[in-house]
Amino acid sequence: MTFPAVRMRRLRRTGALRSLVRETPLAASDLLLPLFIEQGLDGRAPIEAMPGVDRLSISAAVEEAGEVAALGIPGVLLFGIPGHKDAEGSGGWDDEGIVQLATRAIKEAHPDLLVITDVCLCEYTDHGHCGLLRPDGQVDNDASLELLARTAVSQARAGADAVAPSDMMDGRVGVIRKALDDEGLSDTPIIAYSAKFASAFYGPFRDAADSTPAFGDRRGYQMDPANGDEAVREALLDVQEGADMLMVKPALPYLDVLWRVKQETRLPMVAYNVSGEYAMLKAAVAAGHLDERTAVLETLTSIRRAGADVVITYHAKDAARWLQQT
Ligand code: PBG
Repeated sequence: MTFPAVRMRRLRRTGALRSLVRETPLAASDLLLPLFIEQGLDGRAPIEAMPGVDRLSISAAVEEAGEVAALGIPGVLLFGIPGHKDAEGSGGWDDEGIVQLATRAIKEAHPDLLVITDVCLCEYTDHGHCGLLRPDGQVDNDASLELLARTAVSQARAGADAVAPSDMMDGRVGVIRKALDDEGLSDTPIIAYSAKFASAFYGPFRDAADSTPAFGDRRGYQMDPANGDEAVREALLDVQEGADMLMVKPALPYLDVLWRVKQETRLPMVAYNVSGEYAMLKAAVAAGHLDERTAVLETLTSIRRAGADVVITYHAKDAARWLQQT
């Protein structure tokens, strides 16, 4: 009987050896927490499918932002739930809109915390689509671009440290870049949701943000889950148009896409561990089938290993607490 001279187990024997050779670090400083801010809400309102995540009033959001900062999480991603919706999504680019007001309030209270704003119209349109509609019910890509640019400029003027367009209209990164530059906001980075797939995993978010399309679906502008090459092409276009960071969304079902886009672009990569991924894990934990702490830290580490420099996750606060204890 011969024994192997190389023993992989040698470096797995103790915690100290394991940390010495660990390839992928995970820290609170890699995470961002999404916040849902609702106009007219008093305090907090729970979101049924997402235990531990609430819709927040502006003052509750300021309080939450303080907790986030204290945990060493570098920033928040803001989504607005307006009091009023219309066909054009005018609440999105209103200088006194919910995201603009929340951005100002959070930056005033916590100037060092990064505030990143989602640029899209679906939370603000009465039909729930991400852009303007043509009479035939299709989204009008080119007419939507100007409104998205207006939204981004208004958010940046309110103090957003970066804007993140999630609408998936063609050409929006270039149009938003030009609009920001024309307004003297050339220092505001764009985090482009380059590869946003038409995914079932956005279900709980749409309930939370009240943004389910009134008819049809988003497959006319979001990507087919079957396509990896196309995701790389989308990313390269966004780079040409001036994106500073790129996002892949959802995260877990698309780790290969994350890896490929990172290899092709070498830009800082963000992965969005979306609402359905969160809901799925939380449901299994609630049923007693998974250990939450190990499952969450394994999930986030895997997303980092696949190429994400930053992970947007609803687990951010819990993960930051657990990472402090390790
Ligand atoms: C749309 C947007 C969506 C999410 C972020 N931005 C939903 C959608 O495209 O329907 C989903 C995030 C999540 O599920 O956590 N602006």
